[in-house]
Amino acid sequence: MCGIVGYVGDKPVLPLLINGLKRLEYRGYDSAGVAVIDEGQLWYKKKQGKISGLELEINGVDSKASIGIAHTRWATHGEPSERNAHPHFDQDYKIAVVHNGIIENYVQLRDSLLADGYRFYSETDSEILVHLIAMCYDGDMAFAIRKALQLVRGTFGILVLSSYEPDKLFAARRGSPLVIGIGDEENLIASDGSALVEHTRDVIYLEDDEMAVVDKKGAKVRTLQDKTVFKAVEKLPFDLTHLQKGGYAHFMLKEIFEQPDTIWDSMRGRLLVEDGNAKLGGLQNCIERMAHSSRLIITACGTSWHAALIGEYLIEKYANIPVEVEYASEFRYRDPIVSRVDTVLAITQSGETADTLAAVREAKQKGALALGLCNVVGSTIARETHAGVYLHAGPEIGVASTKAFTSQVITLALIALALGRMSHLSAEDGREIAQALKKLPDKMHSILKQANHIESIAKKMVTHHHALYLGRGFNYPVALEGALKMKEISYIHAEGYPAAEMKHGPIALIDAQMPVIFIAVKDAVYEKVISNIEEVKARGGWVIAVVSDGDDTCTSLCDEVIEIPHTIQSLMPVLTVIPLQLLAYYTAVIKGCDVDQPRNLAKSVTVE
Ligand code: M6R
Repeated sequence: MCGIVGYVGDKPVLPLLINGLKRLEYRGYDSAGVAVIDEGQLWYKKKQGKISGLELEINGVDSKASIGIAHTRWATHGEPSERNAHPHFDQDYKIAVVHNGIIENYVQLRDSLLADGYRFYSETDSEILVHLIAMCYDGDMAFAIRKALQLVRGTFGILVLSSYEPDKLFAARRGSPLVIGIGDEENLIASDGSALVEHTRDVIYLEDDEMAVVDKKGAKVRTLQDKTVFKAVEKLPFDLTHLQKGGYAHFMLKEIFEQPDTIWDSMRGRLLVEDGNAKLGGLQNCIERMAHSSRLIITACGTSWHAALIGEYLIEKYANIPVEVEYASEFRYRDPIVSRVDTVLAITQSGETADTLAAVREAKQKGALALGLCNVVGSTIARETHAGVYLHAGPEIGVASTKAFTSQVITLALIALALGRMSHLSAEDGREIAQALKKLPDKMHSILKQANHIESIAKKMVTHHHALYLGRGFNYPVALEGALKMKEISYIHAEGYPAAEMKHGPIALIDAQMPVIFIAVKDAVYEKVISNIEEVKARGGWVIAVVSDGDDTCTSLCDEVIEIPHTIQSLMPVLTVIPLQLLAYYTAVIKGCDVDQPRNLAKSVTVE
């Protein structure tokens, strides 16, 4: 979603801002803009479309500016256009504002500003901020911003630049992240550490209702009520190499191929193979309470919600705790029955998803133990939950989540193992699970070696407009995930179902034009799935199946098979999802789609 970057120092700011925006491209956007102060005056450029277009217009501009702000916009209020792109300006062009988030009462505020004679240039909710600040300005910019923000309802991460105080950047947040990068005689602010890391890894995370005044010497943080706060300087947990493609054509492909390492990073130091157990430092102080919860509610969105479904199966199987899985967007609004005896676990790669954050707040407000399973270190959900576990999968840049999913499943398996060993799971059973976990990276490698074979299947996939993904048991959520991957990056309409549900409706769609992708590995429901494949074949469907190594039955029955090594049933999803990620990837590439930045999608969904 929208991205913010700002710089103050001695370097030429325009190329630096463009570079910062490029680091935020992965979040998804439709227009971009910059504003700088050059010789005491505000100067700006905005452009609809890719940052490269903005860059072209800026190249050749002779500017000595060394302070500026920039933004990538993902349209919410008003179409993607140059007019609606940020920064927005007051009428005298003395103040520029970039904004992430949504101002909920903007209609009322806009009406009253219009009545006072203010003119609006865009259709955005964000523009009201700059007029409010101008209205409140009386010689002290920090005061004006604080006063203006008292009038708004909603979420914001804002950066303000003004020729009234030309050496300072002003930043404030409520519900939309901002990180300050501390450099040597230069400082930066961004909505995401990836725009900072090539300048500095020393950062200060702004909390909700805090405001920073930043110049090249340092950053002063106070609350929006003007109280001093002490902020610790922390280290970004990644470096520039994590943000580069490392020889791969796309970040998504790199991230798919990283998975043997990233799942191991999620297990490292936590998996106790000899003891048949797992130790999760982040849960140390609350695992007892979790184990004695009357139930565990897992809440998440998108891919993380699919991981949550697998978590439900894992935790119920090994730990015997009742688990419910709920879309965060539903959980937050339906006044769920949650109390002190419940644990709510939020799963999120970004740690910033607005719906998941709201669900966490709802759970906390109702007295539940609120835990987080996040990838992004220092993210809002990681900081707002009572405790939690990091995935340690490293930055995920591709909009389509891949390595975060497998690390989420691995971490859930570790939680299930630890909880199980606290109750009825024997050391012997625990060791079987732990050993299977340890062997997964090697098994993943052997699947990744089949990339060319999967690419050849993708070549046949591209002519189709629809696809059905079917799996049962632990592989039902994998069917959902495979379908989501296919639709979000290749724009082929794909649906996932529990295989047995097919005959209750979707079977009507089966004909020779309908690819049906089965997960048909040798597990407890294998024979049932074979019957479902027969049903599709009997109706002329084109069957692609992910099967266990050496499965002759499936090889003769299906049109295409992808063979994968065996592991215990509960961990199969970590392996079965890999061919589906690759199938979606190659299909999208062959179709010429923008794999890393699919249309309309944002990496981190910070609005409702
Ligand atoms: O950062 P989160 O895990 O909270 O994000 C949740 C979803 O927005 C995310 O998984 C989305 O569905 C991805 N595009 C899936 O590839």
